Amino acid sequence: MQKKYSSNRPIVFGFYFTFIIYFVIAQDKNGRVRYIIVIDYIMFYNCKMLQVRNLSVFQSEKGEIRREIVRSVNIKVGKGEIVAIVGESGSGKSLTAYSVINLLPSENLKVKGEVIFNDENILSFSEDKLRNLRGKEIFLIPQDPLTALNPVITIEEQLSEIFYYHSKLSKKEVKERVISLLNLVEIDYPERRLKSYPHQLSGGQRQRVLIAMAMALNPKLIIADEPTTALDVSIQKGILDTFISLRDRYNVSFIIITHDFGLVRYISDYIYVMYGGKVVEEGKKELLLNRPLNPYTVGLINSVPSIKIEPKSKLKSIGGFASISDFACPFYERCKDKEEVCKSFVEYVEVEKDHKVLCMKYQK
Ligand SMILES: Nc1ncnc2c1ncn2[C@@H]1O[C@H](COP(=O)(O)OP(=O)(O)OP(=O)(O)O)[C@@H](O)[C@H]1O
Ligand code: SF4
Ligand SMILES: [Mg+2]
Repeated sequence: MQKKYSSNRPIVFGFYFTFIIYFVIAQDKNGRVRYIIVIDYIMFYNCKMLQVRNLSVFQSEKGEIRREIVRSVNIKVGKGEIVAIVGESGSGKSLTAYSVINLLPSENLKVKGEVIFNDENILSFSEDKLRNLRGKEIFLIPQDPLTALNPVITIEEQLSEIFYYHSKLSKKEVKERVISLLNLVEIDYPERRLKSYPHQLSGGQRQRVLIAMAMALNPKLIIADEPTTALDVSIQKGILDTFISLRDRYNVSFIIITHDFGLVRYISDYIYVMYGGKVVEEGKKELLLNRPLNPYTVGLINSVPSIKIEPKSKLKSIGGFASISDFACPFYERCKDKEEVCKSFVEYVEVEKDHKVLCMKYQK
């Protein structure tokens, strides 16, 4: 079985110290003024640049709430960190991503909770303030690149628009920036691509144009929803390598949304596993992949081809279909290890440092 990706990424640290500098002025016994400089650190804390707290998305009908789709999700992203949100179709990954920039795809969806970015709650922003934040600070690359690009406008015009809107650059300077962006995302012969329309580009090139758009205003965070789903394996790897190089060069943080554990293994530092609108497990990549705890995570990992699997052995499927459930454990209906208590009470527990799970098997 062919292994899709392989990599050993460094671990990104999310801590820093805050220093305080004192100038102490004193006189010595001869009456001369002396200065003493004291440098001290007052605390250290986790410098997560984005914190999603108790985020829920409700579906309403005629003003009445019908169901909670995304359920009290908590996510943290550090500077330069690549966080993956992984889960089957319908688990609430995209709605979580859109909620982060308060841009839900439909009027009947309402978001609650907090999204703390630069010490402010994005969900309390006015529409003007949000518009300024989207693209400039946080850029979302949606699930389908073709629908995200305007089909009747050339690549040059689409990229230039960003600079005309957000900067005072001249026409010549804008063109130079557009070409350098296309170079940055490794589009071959960028000058030749300027006059192309989206449909004239391959899927991989379209994805790269979107990444170029994302990078235009040097955002702090890029959210990429299924960035490689429609692409073949070698192109997928190229796109992921582009993300890694942007992180390494510009310290951009990423939230990558996917159902592909091969991609997660290759690119992420930290993983959140979602099922039925809830996070059912999270952890540093090495911990979660080497010791998956929740039966759903175990099932997902076992259903992915790996080089360890003998060529003729069968992959294990989880069985059943993903759905939103009102049981305390969202995976109850499909879980082979379930017990009666899982219907009514399960706590999210820290099993080891940087590894948490929602499952009664690990309840203390
Ligand atoms: N506008 C809407 N109104 C009602 N339900 C919705 C709406 N949009 C999405 N949903 C439902 O919310 C759930 C989560 O949707 P979401 O798009 O976040 O899933 P996902 O994990 O991104 O799945 P996929 O991998 O297929 O993209 C799904 O069951 C979906 O049917
Ligand atoms: S809480 Fe129970 S039903 Fe849910 S994953 Fe754990 S064992 Fe299975
Ligand atoms: Mg989705």
